[in-house]
Amino acid sequence: MNIDYNERIPNNVDLASDRRLLRALERWQPAYLKWWDDMGPVESQDMEVYLRTAISVEKDGWANFGHVRMPDYRWGIFLTPPEPDRKINFGAHKGEAAWQSVPGEYRSELRRLIVTQGDTEPASVEQQRTLGRSCPSLYDLRNLFQVNVEEGRHLWAMVYLLQAYFGRDGREEADEMLVRHAGDPDRPRILQAFNEKTDDWLSFFMFTFFQDRDGKYQLASLAESGFDPLSRTCRFMLTEEAHHMFVGESGIMRIVQRSAELMREHDTEDIRAFGGIDLDTIQKFMNFHYSVCLDLFGQERSTNAANYYSMGLKGRYQETRIDDDHVLETSVYQTPELVDGKVIMSETSALTAINERLRREYTVDSQRGVNRFNKVLQHFGIERELTLPHEAFNRAIGAFRGVEATPDGDIISSPRFHYHEPSGENGREAGTG
Ligand SMILES: [Fe+2]
Ligand SMILES: [Fe+2]
Repeated sequence: MNIDYNERIPNNVDLASDRRLLRALERWQPAYLKWWDDMGPVESQDMEVYLRTAISVEKDGWANFGHVRMPDYRWGIFLTPPEPDRKINFGAHKGEAAWQSVPGEYRSELRRLIVTQGDTEPASVEQQRTLGRSCPSLYDLRNLFQVNVEEGRHLWAMVYLLQAYFGRDGREEADEMLVRHAGDPDRPRILQAFNEKTDDWLSFFMFTFFQDRDGKYQLASLAESGFDPLSRTCRFMLTEEAHHMFVGESGIMRIVQRSAELMREHDTEDIRAFGGIDLDTIQKFMNFHYSVCLDLFGQERSTNAANYYSMGLKGRYQETRIDDDHVLETSVYQTPELVDGKVIMSETSALTAINERLRREYTVDSQRGVNRFNKVLQHFGIERELTLPHEAFNRAIGAFRGVEATPDGDIISSPRFHYHEPSGENGREAGTG
């Protein structure tokens, strides 16, 4: 199923046959381009960038590389091909045919899921907009722009769903996507991790390592959705997410490697004077990005998450590979709680623990990356390791909300905590739970 680039809006959803939708998207397109101009990468409008552009959604034919002026990038709408006779694989509707239109009784929940996901896409472009000025190399600049144009396309993907399936409120939501801005005090982005600053390259690599990985887990859960157009959109978005995480991991890896070299060469941890980033600083950035990302998964126990699951709207990571009944009415799961200053695990319904389960899978995946960084340190004979901070550290959502804990998970007294707290840190709003 190839994509027609002669269309004003490249697509593989036969947009030409739906005049109403085509008109709505053509009305949104100039607003999007204006947003890109105002809020996208600074000073990049005249640059020719070597970018990959999706040309086909088939497994081995989807990318084309070439020089593009970024505002001329062909943002469009691409869904993976439909799976014949696809079924809803979990929840109360398990076994029924997947929905090709919005199930009326779940309309507002579905819209909320799509809006929350969609809002993160332009947010990250805004957060990263000044990074080009300080790029370490042309290679890094190209990677940054590649990530940016693809996040722009992810916004198109969500806006397509809103405009195609949610009528007038969908069109309004699509407009709102370009009105909220990362860090705007009056019209902020929905999730707090997407209002934080990403204005240096260590932050950018941490962002693409941690935040884009959150994206992977959220998209994978939405790819299980019984609402087939959402599932097909997310499946295609996931193919691009892998590259974003690669940018993050390889970026951190290069920094860790350089730090290790300098530590060996000068026999000291204090390598700033030699142009390196010391491990304390890398660890602090890791503590920050990982902890704000944990909040993105929402409450450990969440009736919203249970409802989304039972309704068949958002599944678990790799739902169909899990060996259970996929209804979860009688299953249990362990979630953490803070009792008398101690973290204890207690049993709860697996349905309400959907967020916690996804978060734990995310943690395992993040830890795998951190292990690879530690291998580099080991290789240089450095005994110190980088670690993910304890889940109680710096949290604004869930069981550890507002708890004053060290990165090691010690719950400490308020004056001691605030003594260590960097200034200007603000709270975060509720996420998906
Ligand atoms: Fe994205
Ligand atoms: Fe991404």
